[in-house]
Amino acid sequence: TYIVTDNCIACKYTDCVEVCPVDCFYEGENMLVIHPDECIDCGVCEPECPAEAIKPDTESGLDKWLELNTKYASIWPNLTERRDPLPDAKALDGEEGKLEKYFS
Ligand code: SF4
Ligand code: F3S
Repeated sequence: TYIVTDNCIACKYTDCVEVCPVDCFYEGENMLVIHPDECIDCGVCEPECPAEAIKPDTESGLDKWLELNTKYASIWPNLTERRDPLPDAKALDGEEGKLEKYFS
């Protein structure tokens, strides 16, 4: 599966939802997650994210993100249409440690 990681937080560009063939993105207040059981591993969303926040879970060190995606995909509502990015998306793109600072 692919998963959404730290740099989505406080950016939420939502380009990803436009290309997903199975609509498996779910929306929280300041980030999206992918439902790991619904993702068909097509990979088309990965290059679409301006924040480079989408990664295959085969990359090392992403266990906590797989857990977070799994948890919130079962709670948050589905998102299938693009929205405006969050207001500070450009300023906060690439900032370290967004999970601790901005996740809610
Ligand atoms: Fe959707 Fe494909 Fe991205 Fe999985 S890899 S979230 S199926 S676009
Ligand atoms: Fe987030 Fe990138 Fe999608 S910032 S909302 S994963 S396009």
